[in-house]
Amino acid sequence: MRFLLPILLAAGCSSGEDSTPGKGEYSDDAGTPTVESCGYTPAPDLDPAGDVVEVDLTASALAWDPGTGVPLDEGVAYDGSVPGPLIEANAGDTIVAHFHNDLDEPLTIHWHGIRLDSDMDGGMQMMYPVDPGASFDYTFTVPDAGFYWYHPHLDGAKLIERGLYGRMIVHAPDEVTADCDLPLALDDILLDEDTLQVAPPDTDMMQLMGRLGNVLLANGKENRRIGLTAGQTVLLRLVNPSNARFWDVYVEGQQMQVVGTDDGWLPEPYPVDDLEITPGERYMVTFTATGAPGDEVRLMNKRFQLHAADADMIETDPLGDGDNPVLTFVFGDGSVEGTPWVQPAVAPLPWSGPTETLGHHWVLDEDMMGGTVTVDGAAWPGVPLVEVAANVDTTFEVENKSEMHHPWHIHGNTFQVVAIDGVAPTVPQGWKDTFDIPPYKTVTLVSDLSNPGDWMYHCHILEHAEGGMMGEMVVE
Ligand code: C2O
Ligand code: CU
Repeated sequence: MRFLLPILLAAGCSSGEDSTPGKGEYSDDAGTPTVESCGYTPAPDLDPAGDVVEVDLTASALAWDPGTGVPLDEGVAYDGSVPGPLIEANAGDTIVAHFHNDLDEPLTIHWHGIRLDSDMDGGMQMMYPVDPGASFDYTFTVPDAGFYWYHPHLDGAKLIERGLYGRMIVHAPDEVTADCDLPLALDDILLDEDTLQVAPPDTDMMQLMGRLGNVLLANGKENRRIGLTAGQTVLLRLVNPSNARFWDVYVEGQQMQVVGTDDGWLPEPYPVDDLEITPGERYMVTFTATGAPGDEVRLMNKRFQLHAADADMIETDPLGDGDNPVLTFVFGDGSVEGTPWVQPAVAPLPWSGPTETLGHHWVLDEDMMGGTVTVDGAAWPGVPLVEVAANVDTTFEVENKSEMHHPWHIHGNTFQVVAIDGVAPTVPQGWKDTFDIPPYKTVTLVSDLSNPGDWMYHCHILEHAEGGMMGEMVVE
């Protein structure tokens, strides 16, 4: 067993996510890679009031190092780190985000998954683009515990790839603090030598599939090493900000339990061997760290098993076949009695099947020859408006007539998946805002439409959204 450095497990968590070495990280002088402590550092809260979280978010150019040692000249970031500042709040808090645009193109910030007022959603292509050099204060309340993220909604396929995204944790009142609470943004980037490929993919197939990367990043870096102690209760909060990659993750030798989804905790956990996470989606999973001092276990990404009809398309995955390591957990000395995980209380979800009111039936399709994707036979902004009544339990159907998966994202309201091709899901369901629509399948959703407003909906494969698989829904 290799010599193991002592691991900093400071009380008050730290590190694990900064793109620059900082507190909580160290390395010895013999070249042993840095082992980070397991945890996170939230953005400083500029408002002393207990129920207001105030942060500065400036978008600017930043040559960041994805862990290769070569900073990416094409990089951009919120407030000097990739991912951007981690916003930490409690359910019911007000967020005040002072956004300043130091880039040379108009920007918005979309607060993915938050049930906020639609004029703060940053999602409408026509609403409040913040001009270069200008500022805008986003102010909104976060009603629901969950793991969220934020990103631009103009030119997202390039800007998110270049590093413009951040995470947000909203705690439930009765949430226990895990021994290791690790929020991870799992992104892929495409490097040619050491140059980030941000130009549109140059083949029709890549345009149609969305760009897949050849380097896997956790919180903006490849090959992170994170310290664990045997017995610890580990909570991973996972978000997939990739343009198009469907992640499918497991941790070697650890039994994961899924405890939460996009917009909250589950009524009860369920075990998984590996977990698929589509672009835009989030999951919260726990495991009890199982290993001996010196052991190293890796967070791995499996090749996503696409529909059989897609076999040829995934030949273009630059990662090729097999499972790929994302980061390594390094076991320190000794063991601890872990803090038992207690599932936060959640009201059971109200529906076990479709409701009487059908709000809309979306049809997703593609034109392979033309290299385009469509919703309801059209491309944004030509997609017909969907209009539904607020505060009515409403069913939506999303029918995928194409041979690709489409991670469907709806702004402003949260949903429950009640059926896939008419069959109820077999695992406990939670509130969702992003869900995979597999090829040739129809997914049935229900929402209480509790949040009126003008909302975007779209595929979260960013090339698909920008290629037209996007529309607008008015809830009033
Ligand atoms: Cu995360 Cu409209 O998107
Ligand atoms: Cu899509």
